[in-house]
Amino acid sequence: MRKTIRRSVLLFAFAVDTVRAVNNGLARTPPLGWNNWNSLGCDVSAELLLDTASRLVSLGLMDVGYKYTVLDDCWSDGRDDNGRIKVDLKRFPDGMSSVSARIHDHGLLFGMYSSAGHMTCARGEGSLDHEVADAQSFAEFSIDYLKYDNCYSKGRAGSASETFARYETMAEALNKTGRPIVYSLCNWGEDFVMSWGVSIANSWRISGDIYDSFSRPDDRCSCTENDPSSPWCVSPGAHCSVLTILNKIAPYADRGQPGGWQDLDALEVGLGGMTDDEYIAHFSLWAALKSPLLIGADLRTLSPEALAILNNPAVLAISQDVLGVPATRVERNTDVPKDRYGVGETHIWSGPLSGGDQVLIFLNAANTDLEMVAYLEDVFVGQGPSCSAPQCNQDWVVHDLWGSRMDDKVAKELLEKSKSREDAARILQAANHYNASSLPYKEGLEKLDIRLLGTKVDEISARGSLSIKVKRHSAKVFRLRPKLGITGKRYNHFKDEL
Ligand SMILES: *[C@@H]1O[C@H](CO)[C@@H](O)[C@H](O)[C@H]1NC(C)=O
Ligand SMILES: *[C@@H]1O[C@H](CO)[C@@H](O)[C@H](O)[C@H]1NC(C)=O
Repeated sequence: MRKTIRRSVLLFAFAVDTVRAVNNGLARTPPLGWNNWNSLGCDVSAELLLDTASRLVSLGLMDVGYKYTVLDDCWSDGRDDNGRIKVDLKRFPDGMSSVSARIHDHGLLFGMYSSAGHMTCARGEGSLDHEVADAQSFAEFSIDYLKYDNCYSKGRAGSASETFARYETMAEALNKTGRPIVYSLCNWGEDFVMSWGVSIANSWRISGDIYDSFSRPDDRCSCTENDPSSPWCVSPGAHCSVLTILNKIAPYADRGQPGGWQDLDALEVGLGGMTDDEYIAHFSLWAALKSPLLIGADLRTLSPEALAILNNPAVLAISQDVLGVPATRVERNTDVPKDRYGVGETHIWSGPLSGGDQVLIFLNAANTDLEMVAYLEDVFVGQGPSCSAPQCNQDWVVHDLWGSRMDDKVAKELLEKSKSREDAARILQAANHYNASSLPYKEGLEKLDIRLLGTKVDEISARGSLSIKVKRHSAKVFRLRPKLGITGKRYNHFKDEL
């Protein structure tokens, strides 16, 4: 039994090393950054982007890894006589290359947006049938990331091959420019993208647009009433809650891999529609599922509480873990108290991390506080059912990843006083906050940096379980670390030792 399991772990590691996704060498861990859409929609300008870039720096967000500053829809102004897309000079008076250069000056990266349609969703110029010219323009703007949407596809959708072809054309056009550009495919999870996105893109959206609600069902995010997880579901729409998106991805949560990630959409943290606990759950699950993490809040009005969620290095270390294996749902219970929409359920999500660690998340989306239990047998079902996995047969130490969240006072000081990277460094170093620019997550984990490992709170014995009280609409987020057993050895993914 053990032998079989070891062999399958090795084969899996082999597959991860040799099969390269889109093959542009990018997004080996999920991209981290900011996108204006969730908070600002079409209210974009050069000033907004430059102000945001300097805030990513002065709030210390760049130094925990948030690098991509992504401009969404509403930046174009038709095409010129040569068919080249024109930048709206009212919003971007010095042109896009100037914005790009100034973002790069901060050490940040720049992303833009278009649609695989004749128009973008806000009815700007789309790139369908203009892929080569537009990719050339994007390369001339020196972009590092392209979000490629799905509006106005002229009916060239409805089957995997038609949609694949539309997105592949841009993938090839980007590649031909010779500039490394993260390709963020956004076709809302239609046409089985979970089965082909990895071949051409660094990430692909799996649902309609998120909205700032934890669990409220909405008709516009269709496919929720009868079978939320059905890949046959068409017209995914918008107004998808955090819970709806999780239920949608659960059956194929494991499809992400280094170079190609499943995109659960930009973050709503800090927009105001959810409680602090709900935002913690949202952020932690997006990190554990290895979604790109693009901050959706307006950094000019960010609250200290939201900043102290977004900059939690212990959770970002889960997102940026080099093993790159998304957590999957190992248990779902719908037999719990419901709210007035009829919504109520609990989930347990778990997945392997580098060095033999494991992330474990208890999500309480029921309408009451609950005692939840996770059994090692379920947590390690991916490594072998019925506790056949070696991991099920050893003791674990439980670390709480929200145990040392930044104090609101420090977050407030950053928001009110910091104007530069030097200011941020002074405030953050005094608070002993993690700096991923000086100590990348991989090295910090190898050095067992306590700021990444979290706070030790409990232990689980071999073949045992962890029982914990979880408040209504919140998550408990843990890193499990193997406890050295009687043999003095512990299971390790890389060394394959037991
Ligand atoms: C283009 O594709 C080739 C083949 O997959 C790859 O080796 C190369 O790195 C890509 N270049 C860019 C700029 O993405
Ligand atoms: C993080 O480390 C880099 C490189 O050592 C340094 O330049 C920067 O000021 C530090 N930032 C913070 C916020 O401490």
